[in-house]
Amino acid sequence: MSTIRAWAATALNAPLTPYSYDPGPLGDEEVEIAVTHCGICHSDLSMLGNAWRNTTFPLVPGHEAVGTVAALGAHAKGLRIGQRVGLGWMAGSCMHCTQCLSGHHNLCNTPEETIVARHGGFAERVRCHWAWALALPDALDAKTAGPLFCGGLTVFAPLVEFDVKPTDRVGVVGIGGLGHMALMFLRAWGCEVTAFTSNMNKADEARGFGAHHVVASTDSQAIKRLARSLDVIMVTVNVALDWKALLGALAPRGRLHVVGALPEPIPVPSSALIGAQRSVSGSPTGSPAVAAAMLEFCARHRISPQVEMFPMSRVNDALDHLRAGKARYRIVLENDFR
Ligand SMILES: NC(=O)c1ccc[n+]([C@@H]2O[C@H](COP(=O)([O-])OP(=O)(O)OC[C@H]3O[C@@H](n4cnc5c(N)ncnc54)[C@H](OP(=O)(O)O)[C@@H]3O)[C@@H](O)[C@H]2O)c1
Ligand SMILES: [Zn+2]
Ligand SMILES: [Zn+2]
Repeated sequence: MSTIRAWAATALNAPLTPYSYDPGPLGDEEVEIAVTHCGICHSDLSMLGNAWRNTTFPLVPGHEAVGTVAALGAHAKGLRIGQRVGLGWMAGSCMHCTQCLSGHHNLCNTPEETIVARHGGFAERVRCHWAWALALPDALDAKTAGPLFCGGLTVFAPLVEFDVKPTDRVGVVGIGGLGHMALMFLRAWGCEVTAFTSNMNKADEARGFGAHHVVASTDSQAIKRLARSLDVIMVTVNVALDWKALLGALAPRGRLHVVGALPEPIPVPSSALIGAQRSVSGSPTGSPAVAAAMLEFCARHRISPQVEMFPMSRVNDALDHLRAGKARYRIVLENDFR
């Protein structure tokens, strides 16, 4: 069980082609997962385009993997062979820095990201540290669970971190992979939920995911009408919008929380913060403990991402579909290595 068959880009923006690699001996703290399904996150596209200047080629993307534990290192804890697990953006954390020791493993000072300088889940198998192979509850379907491990966790963690209340009014900007899961979580959390979308054709589906209100994210006048009304606005887009109007839509003590990887800085005048005591923040994915809480929450509230399935061998079509903004609302690849 040495060579791993995968799909890799061998150069910048090259289509993915079949690729095999030898992962070497399994580390003592490592787990090998036999991948059954893997979601496609927009961050996979960004890595393929070297948008963050940290891509190394060949690159095997994929960081929303679900599968079963195929091998356990000598010191891997809390897992058994055959167990269903998921793997997200983080594949390892040091386990001894202050952040890891206080339960904020996603803020580890020396993080290991699943597809940065290592190979990810568009493959028959993928490896990670045991702490990041997250147990999948029986109630969740492996076919649809993958997107929870990156996109889902990223929008769930801020609800815990910032103590979002069921009485809060919360906006979600961008109804894509992350955004549609945010709507589901917030509705079940008890909030009054406003979806901001640049594509009003998504309005009915956004309501189906849990939005009480749908507003055009590109309509400054419509956003201005919401002035001082939203306790939290979660930004999941990766494009510039009317930040002045969105900051103005925050209630006193409100928070603009950014999880989308914006290419340009957000202009934040002090006047937008001071008078109404507003905050601007961001966060990377979530910790294993918060992931476990999210999975339990999904099981309890019967939440599952809305996915489109592609066989893994059609990964290039799937990537084009996401690039074109046509994914509804998360693409999942099904392992068809034979
Ligand atoms: N912080 C983290 O840890 C973390 C984790 C995962 C992903 N991310 C980042 O989060 C972002 C979203 O990822 P995703 O996988 O959800 O992407 P996605 O599925 O492509 O969704 C992005 C959404 O942004 C909106 N959008 C796209 N182009 C737009 C435009 N020109 N004007 C206005 N809105 C536009 C669209 O929503 P509407 O059609 O509704 O407007 C689109 O569905 C990416 O930057 C990704 O890298 C961050
Ligand atoms: Zn991701
Ligand atoms: Zn650490």
